[in-house]
Amino acid sequence: MSKLHELMPRERTIRPVEGSTRRALGTTGLVANVLGLGAGPLGDPRHDERAMTRLIHEAIELGVELFDTAPSYGLSEERLGRALVGRRERVIVSTKVGYGVPGEADWTGRCIERGIDLARERLRVDVLDVVHLHSCDAHTLLRSDVRDALLAARAAGKVGHLGYSGDGEPLAEARRWGELSVLQTSFNLVDQRARDEVDDRAWLGKRTLMNAAFARDEPLSPDVAEYRRRWREADWPDEVRRDPARASLRFAAFGGPDVVLVGTARVENLRAAVAAIEEGPLPEDLHVALVELAARHTWPGMI
Ligand SMILES: NC(=O)c1ccc[n+]([C@@H]2O[C@H](COP(=O)([O-])OP(=O)(O)OC[C@H]3O[C@@H](n4cnc5c(N)ncnc54)[C@H](OP(=O)(O)O)[C@@H]3O)[C@@H](O)[C@H]2O)c1
Repeated sequence: MSKLHELMPRERTIRPVEGSTRRALGTTGLVANVLGLGAGPLGDPRHDERAMTRLIHEAIELGVELFDTAPSYGLSEERLGRALVGRRERVIVSTKVGYGVPGEADWTGRCIERGIDLARERLRVDVLDVVHLHSCDAHTLLRSDVRDALLAARAAGKVGHLGYSGDGEPLAEARRWGELSVLQTSFNLVDQRARDEVDDRAWLGKRTLMNAAFARDEPLSPDVAEYRRRWREADWPDEVRRDPARASLRFAAFGGPDVVLVGTARVENLRAAVAAIEEGPLPEDLHVALVELAARHTWPGMI
């Protein structure tokens, strides 16, 4: 058994579709390309509407099959809904719920019930492929009204699969609830804790490019600033330092998650992501060195 294989999450297996960059998503029965589009950036209202439609269409042409969105990503759900008319059969859309429903308290059953209907309207679908609870705390995950609302939506055929998106203690709580079939966690060179915190369910890796913290000098939100601190603190191999985006992608795409989400509003960065993944895994000794480097730093997971 190779060293790399030993470093894979103990409780899970990646199930590639032979001869392709597609994979079965855990035990959901869904299959998707390893590269998914994180549709956060494309929801920014400052981006041109037609350019974002072109980005979505180009992503499909490049083989992307999973789009991850949320109500808090600006115009993301509406834009995806419009751009995917007539193309729905070719893609999986995952979204999130738990907050932001007018007249309903966040993280309640009513908010989730109505949030699912609002997402169906914005995304222009009858069935949402995947709905995550969006990074709520562990207590919320245990609320019976929250659980009942999710289960009722799935039983009514409004949702295909239920998931949790987040990290740390709430992720551990999410794992204890067997009705969730999708886990979305951070996973990148400076945030590898989820490797030991997921199981055999579908795993979507978020923040794959560590929010491009390696390329940013401006003031940042605390989480991304922490990524930048980690990036600057560590002694990276030259190959990683030369092209951190490429190395991050190859590392994450072959390091655990079924799908790695890349957030971008730029077609050229999407093409770069496709090209990086087509290169395949990093050399095994480099991959192992990067796992060991993160282990030495004992960096905690970030939501
Ligand atoms: N709690 C949650 O549920 C949660 C939290 C975070 C993320 N997510 C999901 O995961 C997705 C991905 O995470 P993310 O968007 O936060 O972070 P990310 O994918 O790690 O990084 C996105 C950043 O990387 C830049 N970028 C993309 N390609 C690049 C390249 N080749 N070279 C240099 N920079 C590049 C993008 O800028 P450009 O737009 O200029 O390309 C953007 O600023 C999100 O969109 C979302 O779907 C979920």
